[in-house]
Amino acid sequence: MKSNAAETAKTAQEAPVFQAGPKSKAIYDEEQKYIAPGVQSIGLFSQIAMDRGEGVYFIDVDGNRYMDFYAGVGVASLGHAHPRYVKAMQDQVAKINVGSFVTKHRLNFVKTLAGVTPEGMTRAQLYSGGSESVEAALRLAKSHTKKHEFVGFWGGFHGKTMGVLGLLGDDFKKDLGPLLPGTYLMPYAYCYRCPFKTKYPGCGLLCAEIIRDAVKHQTTQNVAAFIMEPIQGTNGNVVPPEGYVKAVMSIAHEMGALFIADEMITGFGRTGKMFGVMHEGIVPDIITVGKGLACGMPVSGVISNDKVINSKPFANPSGSSSSYGGNPLAAAACDATLTTIIDEKLVENSAAVGAHMLKRLKGMAEKYRFIGDVRGRGLMIGVEMVSDRRTKERLPKNICRALFDECLKRGLMSMCYSHTIRINPPLTITKAEADTGLDILDESFTVISKRFNLN
Ligand SMILES: Cc1ncc(COP(=O)(O)O)c(C=O)c1O
Repeated sequence: MKSNAAETAKTAQEAPVFQAGPKSKAIYDEEQKYIAPGVQSIGLFSQIAMDRGEGVYFIDVDGNRYMDFYAGVGVASLGHAHPRYVKAMQDQVAKINVGSFVTKHRLNFVKTLAGVTPEGMTRAQLYSGGSESVEAALRLAKSHTKKHEFVGFWGGFHGKTMGVLGLLGDDFKKDLGPLLPGTYLMPYAYCYRCPFKTKYPGCGLLCAEIIRDAVKHQTTQNVAAFIMEPIQGTNGNVVPPEGYVKAVMSIAHEMGALFIADEMITGFGRTGKMFGVMHEGIVPDIITVGKGLACGMPVSGVISNDKVINSKPFANPSGSSSSYGGNPLAAAACDATLTTIIDEKLVENSAAVGAHMLKRLKGMAEKYRFIGDVRGRGLMIGVEMVSDRRTKERLPKNICRALFDECLKRGLMSMCYSHTIRINPPLTITKAEADTGLDILDESFTVISKRFNLN
């Protein structure tokens, strides 16, 4: 393998760009005149117009089928057009879809939810977007603690609204300042790229331990809450080592702060347990959820315990509510999704199929030297591609784009257009279907490996 990736990329022939079908292309081109720039990379790079979905497949307007390893970034928990979900939504929309009155679906959903959350987390409020629920969680933490500072983590992602920008641990916030005052960031346990250049477990979880001092030196010691993803999704499905999330939570509690687990992606079975924090056996103070919660209907939520959720002003009449949060259609979507996840044992399926996929991907890491790291839990898997295993230099963008194109050409829709491939298919995926997708990925790895002289 060549050590200078830039040189490798330059000398390699240009990757053939995947061509969306003619009908897709016509729709895409026409929309470009009117849609704002900045749409999700997968839509931008593929230029495909989707017609429908069936199970773990997308079908575009030209009739091409794509195995779905992306699920709308973990949204399509039941896959596409699941008959139970379709029926529940059709029935509900024909009846009523507006208003914040209680419905049978909402009652059934919050009751069922209370039975599958970490102990004591039996109270929920619903919203319509992920960052909205994160902001609600921050308001709840302020209401409860009467403090006003927040701690996030390097590499963390919690949405794009103004209140959360300061808690994003990446360069998304670049040029969008000033940020909300009182937001601070601590290092996350990203062991493959350890910021302290140490190794677990010998490190003694230094990245958690340092937080005590860092908070003392940097904040006014009025921290209302820490907010953390149990596995970082946007940062590349980064799995912290055992004990890390638990250690951070106890440090938060030591200083009288709440611990918010942002389970937008990790919730509802994605990691092989109902919630990501369950891998650590911990009970956070607040959990934020969304995405897979309602399988495509825009619903998010805040889950907490009796004591915290009753804090005012959050708990005042209309203090925690919103226009669409928990309306009859949203409630039907949540109810249908959660009951199907439970009845069809999709959490168990996520654990089993995810373990199988992880094993196969680790096998590929032995075959391809440009695969630097494979990690994951359940159906939340990250594959990190490097041009040099020793320096861990990230694989150049044009090679990653070539991989994305090769996968699309063979019928796989996957977030493999950057050096960290994020694999998060629907929770309904079978082992055979996962193998079909992995075969395509493997074949595409071979193609880029040869084309860019990577091995
Ligand atoms: C962990 C996490 N929190 C919050 C959000 C924000 O969700 P939304 O895009 O629905 O606002 C995301 C989105 O990717 C996320 O991954």
